[in-house]
Amino acid sequence: MTLLQGKVALISGGASGLGAAFVEACAEQGAQVVFGDLLDDAGEKLEQALRALGGDVTYVPLDVTKEADWRNAVQRTIVCYGKLNILINNAGLVLPKVPIEEINAQDWDRTFAVNGKGVFLGTKYAIPEMRRCGGGSIINISSLAALGQARLQEPAYAASKAAVRIFTKVTAGQYAGDSIRCNSVHPGPINAGMLPRYLIDPEALKQRMSRIPLGRLGTAEEVVAGVLYLASDQSGFTTGTELVMDGGALVD
Ligand SMILES: NC(=O)c1ccc[n+]([C@@H]2O[C@H](COP(=O)([O-])OP(=O)(O)OC[C@H]3O[C@@H](n4cnc5c(N)ncnc54)[C@H](O)[C@@H]3O)[C@@H](O)[C@H]2O)c1
Repeated sequence: MTLLQGKVALISGGASGLGAAFVEACAEQGAQVVFGDLLDDAGEKLEQALRALGGDVTYVPLDVTKEADWRNAVQRTIVCYGKLNILINNAGLVLPKVPIEEINAQDWDRTFAVNGKGVFLGTKYAIPEMRRCGGGSIINISSLAALGQARLQEPAYAASKAAVRIFTKVTAGQYAGDSIRCNSVHPGPINAGMLPRYLIDPEALKQRMSRIPLGRLGTAEEVVAGVLYLASDQSGFTTGTELVMDGGALVD
């Protein structure tokens, strides 16, 4: 219950899916949490529900593609809680998979704006505040799609998540001297958030699972456990690395 006691976290895309699970878990572990999303109604409802349970959480409207929104989210974090120790760049977007020659260039740009630029902007505005409080932990939610099983992946999503993987390492290298750690998380198919919306056809789901050696989808709780580890001081000697949670998909 106290893994993150005394820490302040900022989480993007926190109103639903895996992001909401991260918000809840960080609050349960004693962190004060600011979370942002495009989904204001869902965000405000989650804020109320968690406050009713004793969580110290604050929702802020945040479009991760907009620099002014990130500036505001970080400022709100400082105004509400005085510091920033943990950033979870979780907001993400995947569009329906089509062959590369049929991808609309605007869809490519939109995917990169959320999955790539969104992570850059969050990192850019979090770093000065983390440095001010003596260090921090940045966790970038990438994907199995960044690492392999390429034939199964939506091209813009996979390329943008691969960009997040290397940006994580560059961030870790540039800011290790400020005790700011940065790691990426690579979930395979998880039974929460976007995947159940994307894979609705039971036959497609069966086929997808046939490519996962453990023979099932991962759970939000399993991803939460890894993210909490990277957020906490337990992972104090870990930076620039990638935590893969894919049921063995990459050994297939
Ligand atoms: N669910 C999975 O199987 C899975 C697997 C690998 C990686 N991921 C990654 O996990 C993260 C969370 O995904 P999820 O499955 O919960 O999906 P989701 O679609 O349920 O949640 C994504 C959240 O991000 C928000 N968001 C989207 N665009 C935004 C923007 N411009 N600004 C702010 N918020 C925005 C959405 O409103 C939503 O609340 C994503 O980065 C995703 O790529 C998910």
